Amino acid sequence: MGNDLSKLSPKGVIHAIRTRSQRKTQTPPQSIKAQSVTSNLASSPAPTPNPASTPLPPVSVARPSAIDGAVLNDEDAVYWHPSQDESSDREYHKVETSDYFLPSDMQEQSRLDLQHHMLVMLFKDLIICTPVKQILTKKSTKVLDVGCAMGTWLDAVYRIYLNPEYHGVDIADELNQWDKMSLAKCVFGNVLEGLPYEDNTFNFVHQRLLFTGVPKAKWPAVVAELARVTKHGGWIQMLEYDMVTYRQGPSSKMLGETFAAMLDKRGMDIRAGTNLVGYMNEVATSSGGSVRLTNITQKTVSCPLGWGGKVGELFLQDSEKAVMTMKTFLPKIMGLSNEAYDDLVGEFKSECVRNQSFGNFTCVYAQVIKN
Ligand SMILES: C[S@@+](CC[C@H](N)C(=O)[O-])C[C@H]1O[C@@H](n2cnc3c(N)ncnc32)[C@H](O)[C@@H]1O
Repeated sequence: MGNDLSKLSPKGVIHAIRTRSQRKTQTPPQSIKAQSVTSNLASSPAPTPNPASTPLPPVSVARPSAIDGAVLNDEDAVYWHPSQDESSDREYHKVETSDYFLPSDMQEQSRLDLQHHMLVMLFKDLIICTPVKQILTKKSTKVLDVGCAMGTWLDAVYRIYLNPEYHGVDIADELNQWDKMSLAKCVFGNVLEGLPYEDNTFNFVHQRLLFTGVPKAKWPAVVAELARVTKHGGWIQMLEYDMVTYRQGPSSKMLGETFAAMLDKRGMDIRAGTNLVGYMNEVATSSGGSVRLTNITQKTVSCPLGWGGKVGELFLQDSEKAVMTMKTFLPKIMGLSNEAYDDLVGEFKSECVRNQSFGNFTCVYAQVIKN
């Protein structure tokens, strides 16, 4: 599948009513309910398995240390692209112009499903943008998920709000195959080059965790693109991670900071979560005032890594799966053998639990106003 969007017209809309059995990787409905979150470090006292543990810093603290010191041993590996994976037991997107490097296969999807549960637990809700909940009860409502992968978020929303029409867009080559599994209508599209939808199509546009694929310089244009396809009065919800681990040990520092330095060199925004509000505020300027985002609301929540109950366990599993997925290039960047890398990951896991490490996720939602 090519990435020439001029050749792509939105496919016919299929109302999102399909049998549940079509979705092989669905999760039990109870998992989408907000659960008691012992780990909401931003708004409640942290669990303290070790009474001598230091108090948790506020979520807004600056980077604990600079990534400038990270040693990147192999420049080629820093710019690794999926097209370089010759072993090919993993599936990737085929968009030459996209620097996104994570796979798009079932193995990756099981990580994304796990991550989805973690985020719903962490934020205590699936729809963090509370004003849109009323809109989601209506039949005329259209919802879009940008970077939808196999449609986990879309299908979870559908299970609560049956009425809207659900759409997803992604650069993954496997979309046609996934489309059969999701309850939504999923099409190919690259948000960096323009979404394959008319202006003012959707009432609610969602985008989650694209910080490894959206260059820093393109974030304002991406937010403007989400606003373009949103109707006047509609809402946008975005959720991103700051690539910073707090209270880290030496192995976690080496792993996390090398990865952050690699992303930084590739031009990505390693503080995408923190910067979302700023990007949203730029929409008014870039549109010459014809489009602006209002009622901008930010919620930043710290997530424990390997401690603090289920949510911490899930975050550690998610992180371990992600760093093992990146074994194709991260050991080279660090100048480590594969065996030494495995040992480092093992030590990283123990350290996170010992140190009560955590990271911050930020969700920002806003209403789109068009003149
Ligand atoms: C980390 S996954 C997150 C998936 C999903 N949003 C979730 O939260 O479960 C990032 C997804 O964004 C997609 N993606 C990356 N760059 C993209 C782009 N430029 N346009 C559209 N989708 C993109 C990837 O193919 C992948 O499915």
